Amino acid sequence: MKVLIVGSGGREHAIAWAVAKNPKVEKIYCAPGNAGIAEFAECVPIGAMEFEKLAEFAENEKVDLSIIGMDDPLCGGIVDVFEAKGLRVFGPRKNAAILEGSKAFSKELMKKYNIPTAKYETVHSAEEAREYLRSVRFPIVLKADGLALGKGVLICNTPEEAEQGVVEIMEDKKFGSAGDQMVIEEFMTGREVSVLSFCDGKTILPMTSAQDHKRAGDNDTGLNTGGMGTFSPSPFYTEEVDQFCRENIYQRTVDAMRAEGRPFVGIIFFGLMITADGPKVLEYNCRFGDPEAQVVIPRMKNDMVEVMEACVDGKLDTVELEFEDNAAVCVVLASEGYPVSYKKGFPIEGLENFRGASDKFVFHAGTKFDENGRIVTNGGRVLGVTALGKTLVEARANAYKASDLVTFENKYKRNDIGKAIDEA
Ligand code: AMP
Ligand code: GLY
Repeated sequence: MKVLIVGSGGREHAIAWAVAKNPKVEKIYCAPGNAGIAEFAECVPIGAMEFEKLAEFAENEKVDLSIIGMDDPLCGGIVDVFEAKGLRVFGPRKNAAILEGSKAFSKELMKKYNIPTAKYETVHSAEEAREYLRSVRFPIVLKADGLALGKGVLICNTPEEAEQGVVEIMEDKKFGSAGDQMVIEEFMTGREVSVLSFCDGKTILPMTSAQDHKRAGDNDTGLNTGGMGTFSPSPFYTEEVDQFCRENIYQRTVDAMRAEGRPFVGIIFFGLMITADGPKVLEYNCRFGDPEAQVVIPRMKNDMVEVMEACVDGKLDTVELEFEDNAAVCVVLASEGYPVSYKKGFPIEGLENFRGASDKFVFHAGTKFDENGRIVTNGGRVLGVTALGKTLVEARANAYKASDLVTFENKYKRNDIGKAIDEA
């Protein structure tokens, strides 16, 4: 069996690692991939947004299953292009990926189908926004409708901050056409949890929970990033919370999408806030989280390819998902200055310390081979070091110990990943 993975981050490295464990898989391609993924896959220099070229490649190489890791190609309709050529592909079609691609769409869906979420209003112009903002209580949350690299969400404490946000999103178009519409949403407090799930259009199987750390600095200071580290499971995601979400959020979302004529096949990522009034949806994503994948996938007992094929074939009801009764922590090693500006091209030392290990992994996010064949830094987030442990406390100690095994100039990490474990 031949598999093509589309993407180039730590998430795609974790997916490739899991796919490579299937004995039927004889060849993995990754487009465009990175230096770590190259250990399992032949990296193909085609960009993730070059749908026609990618589909042509999959056709020519007789790829049996393509897996789309990233949000941009999914929201842009890559799955529709593959399916039009009769190719088997894991991920939602464009009309279902809108669950992540438009916050106005997802909020309306949740309202219509009674899925718990923050109260909100969608506005279509700066004037409409200002009018509505006169009636709200602060803090308030402004969200650009479309994809904005995770940066289109502004938490505003005062009317002045909100005015500045309206100007940025809707007048200056800082996030481009993502700001043509805007969601203005009630500010929620509580614990944030990420739950990823497999879906086949009808059935949904939630995976184990995880928690991300989005801010760049220790103690949740600094700018928002793609994610600086994760742990799994979340001690705040109790049996009771899980039960509530299964009854009121997960299946209801899949049923709602089907009822709207947008059956969702692929991964739904539920960003949840566990509030005093119960769990509520913060956001949906239409793919694995990064770096959530780097702690969830290593704990999964099932074969990744088998589960994904069951999704594509509409047979997820025959699968039982199982996770190890352990814990994982991922510490992201970034380039100093991320997410604003940073230097890259520095050689990375110590990667060999992870070779053959089954309790610690180094997932590459932004790396490449230089002209001398050395692995060098090539992005803001460079590596994700994941370690397992019997408990979260043990996994965290192991992850920090392992994070010292790799070095590069400019290396930056948060020192408090998993601090919330001590508050549980
Ligand atoms: P999102 O991209 O929608 O997940 O938003 C990014 C981050 O902003 C989330 O992970 C939360 O930390 C925060 N956030 C988004 N919406 C809200 C809200 N309604 N109340 C409080 N925090 C929020
Ligand atoms: N780690 C958050 C995300 O992948 O969107």
